[in-house]
Amino acid sequence: MHKIMFVCLGNICRSPMAELLFKDMVKKAGREKEFYIESCATSDENVWNGVGAPVYPQIKTLLESRGISCAGKRAQVLTKAHGEQFDLFLCMDDSNVRNARRILGEKHADKCQKLLSYAGESGNVADPWYTRDFNLAYEDIKRGLEGLLNSLS
Ligand code: 4NP
Repeated sequence: MHKIMFVCLGNICRSPMAELLFKDMVKKAGREKEFYIESCATSDENVWNGVGAPVYPQIKTLLESRGISCAGKRAQVLTKAHGEQFDLFLCMDDSNVRNARRILGEKHADKCQKLLSYAGESGNVADPWYTRDFNLAYEDIKRGLEGLLNSLS
C-alpha cells in the first residue's frame, strides 16, 4: 500500500486537484487497493474552527468537466503526526517542500519531494493562485501524476 499525501500552501487549488485526479487515474487503472491518497496545506489560512474550505470554484469546474467530483473534499493542515502515516509527501513547489520538512521534521525530510520530479522535471507546478491559468496547473499536475503512477507499479 502506497500512502501518498499531496501538499500545497492552501489545499484548495493544486493539492486537491492532484489528490482527486490521482484517485481517478488509480481507479481507471484498476489499482485502488494499492493506494491511500489525501492532500493537505502547509498553512491554516483555509481552515476555520476546524472546518476546511471546499475546493476552489475554478478547480471544481475544471475537474467536474472531466467527470471528477470534488464532493466532500475540505482543506486540512499538514501536521507532524502525518509523518508516520504517509510514505510520500508530494509537494507542488519548493516552498511547500521547505514548509513540509519544517512541519514533519528531519526524520521525514526525504519523503518530501516535488511532484514534477516524477515527470523528470526540476520545476514547480504553476500556481494558479497567481497565474489564474488553471489549465496550466492541471497539465503540470497530470504529467507528474502519470510519472508517479508508472514509478510505483
Ligand atoms: P493552493 O493555492 O496552495 O494551490 O491551494 C492557494 C490557495 C490560497 C492561497 C494561496 C494559494 N492564499 O493565499 O490564500
